[in-house]
Amino acid sequence: MSEASKKVAIIGSGNVGSNTAFLVALLGVANIALIDVAEGLAEGRALDICQALSILQLDEDVAGGQDFALLKGAEIVIITAGFPRKPGMSRKDLLDKNAAIIKSVCAEIKEKAPDAIVIVVTNPVDAMAHLAWKELGFAHEKVIGMGGMLDSGRFIHFITEATGVARSVVQAVVIGSHSDQMVPLTSFVRVGDEDSDFPVKESVLSGAAEKTKHGGAEIVKLLKTGSAAYGPAAALSTMINSIIGDEKQVFSVCTLAQGEYGLSDIYVNLPVQLGADGVGKIVEIELSEEEEKALELSADSIREMLSELG
Ligand code: 2OP
Repeated sequence: MSEASKKVAIIGSGNVGSNTAFLVALLGVANIALIDVAEGLAEGRALDICQALSILQLDEDVAGGQDFALLKGAEIVIITAGFPRKPGMSRKDLLDKNAAIIKSVCAEIKEKAPDAIVIVVTNPVDAMAHLAWKELGFAHEKVIGMGGMLDSGRFIHFITEATGVARSVVQAVVIGSHSDQMVPLTSFVRVGDEDSDFPVKESVLSGAAEKTKHGGAEIVKLLKTGSAAYGPAAALSTMINSIIGDEKQVFSVCTLAQGEYGLSDIYVNLPVQLGADGVGKIVEIELSEEEEKALELSADSIREMLSELG
């Protein structure tokens, strides 16, 4: 029997949902319930993962099916259900179709997992997280969007690609919207410890920042029929681990700003502590004047999308 006592339910058993399930089970963080409206998909993925866990001699439970009753008892619910981007599409192009899906699954979560922490992945994630918060009526600390952490990982990747330093010594963070208007904080990048003798030139950082803004679209263009899955799964499993372990680690996640960074009443990616109660303290980083302006424009792009939701 699994040592993990917590349960994570994942709505949507496509590439992101199933890779997240596998990673969370591999890390021994929680038992999983995979749900998908497509007949056989969640069940098939769950069966496949259970057989992989048998090979690896791991005991986490992974169930799958079409029935939303699988949500019951989940401490965390991940929403990945929705249409992914196709080449040439913006995340905004998915707005109306995915908003309808978010409303539908939120009704199920309210009824079957009313005490869960909900992490939204469905794009455009900033607007979808805000919508989910409204539809669920849960405390905002318990409704989170996953975007900034994925972008921060991409920023680190492009910095290490440009400098040759190891990923593990680079600290970098992206805030704002999970879109081309995201704000990679070039003023905050640290390589090694504070007094590292490996200063990274501004031109290198701005080049990495530019690549990060289009990191998702680059993968969509290469794959032609899908979008990123391993990066989102790594971000989600890390967030889940910090919540279940009440580790209060600091990540950039989409949360409700209430005055921090000069923003209010908008879901936007900011550095926060993630623990057992969801979003804790929002960590305020000093921004350059350029970054402050970029964050305001980024927030405007989210407000514009919300206004189209009505
Ligand atoms: C990405 O940036 C799918 O929004 C996701 O890859």
